[in-house]
Amino acid sequence: MSKQRQLKLGAMVHGVGHGWGEWRHPQARPNASVSFDFYKQQAQLAEAAKFDFVFIADSLHIHEKSSPHYLNRFEPLTILSALAATTQHIGLVATVTVSYTEPFQVARQFASLDHISGGRAGWNVVTSWLSGTADNFGKSEHPPHAVRYRIAKEHVNVVKGLWDSWEDDAFAYDKQSGEFFTPGKLHALEHKGEFFSVKGPLNISRSRQGQPVIFQAGTSEAGRNFAAQNSDAIFVSPESFEDAHTYYQDLKTRAMASVVTRRNCRSCRASADRGS
Ligand SMILES: Cc1cc2nc3c(=O)[nH]c(=O)nc-3n(C[C@H](O)[C@H](O)[C@H](O)COP(=O)(O)O)c2cc1C
Repeated sequence: MSKQRQLKLGAMVHGVGHGWGEWRHPQARPNASVSFDFYKQQAQLAEAAKFDFVFIADSLHIHEKSSPHYLNRFEPLTILSALAATTQHIGLVATVTVSYTEPFQVARQFASLDHISGGRAGWNVVTSWLSGTADNFGKSEHPPHAVRYRIAKEHVNVVKGLWDSWEDDAFAYDKQSGEFFTPGKLHALEHKGEFFSVKGPLNISRSRQGQPVIFQAGTSEAGRNFAAQNSDAIFVSPESFEDAHTYYQDLKTRAMASVVTRRNCRSCRASADRGS
């Protein structure tokens, strides 16, 4: 019998639209990007149509010439938390940048969304290409592309490590004995790296998925390697079917190479033995 393959469908909910003019369409809601009703309706439509996930893109810098959706839109994790309560099954994927966040905060936010939604959270890891973002975060300069991907690698590793702070059954909640949690099932991360220093553990129990789904959309050499090594799902916007196919093959090859490298890596084997 031939193996059944299933197409996964994701809907990008993008408020009033991508461009500068959509808001003027007679049927457009100019305030769609900050309308909870609009997002709720779109997510419920996608869920009823059997889509696998809704995706909320994001960036952190605007200027007077930015398009309407960028000028006035929801913060992704906030709107997804609300959608978690108004949908049942659909995946909830949010963009959060690694260049202007701390891993502890990101790990905690996605673990919370995963709990609230019963295991439906996904993180689209971006490195932020808008250099003006630095001005909103008290930074003297926007990190160069290669540095952003070094930050991404370390950031995501720390987040994944923090998500493993608590074993699945760490919280005993035993009123009789007074054991709230089992001490041996709590693990501090003790991370000290090039960009981040994070002791851990995370202050929220392991979520339904344990490790929420990681998305990425790298197209550069560094971006593709990062996507292949770290993500569960990859976004791409190709110009043609042939381009999509070439990209797919390239990513598969890189992902396979990264699995082989990890198999041959002694410290990776040790951490696999520890189950981390
Ligand atoms: C479908 C899709 C969605 C994306 N969403 C975002 C986003 O929400 N925020 C962002 O800063 N970049 C977003 N990007 C840009 C990518 O994260 C990435 O930076 C871009 O594809 C360039 O690749 P590179 O980082 O390897 O140079 C998106 C790209 C694609 C194809």
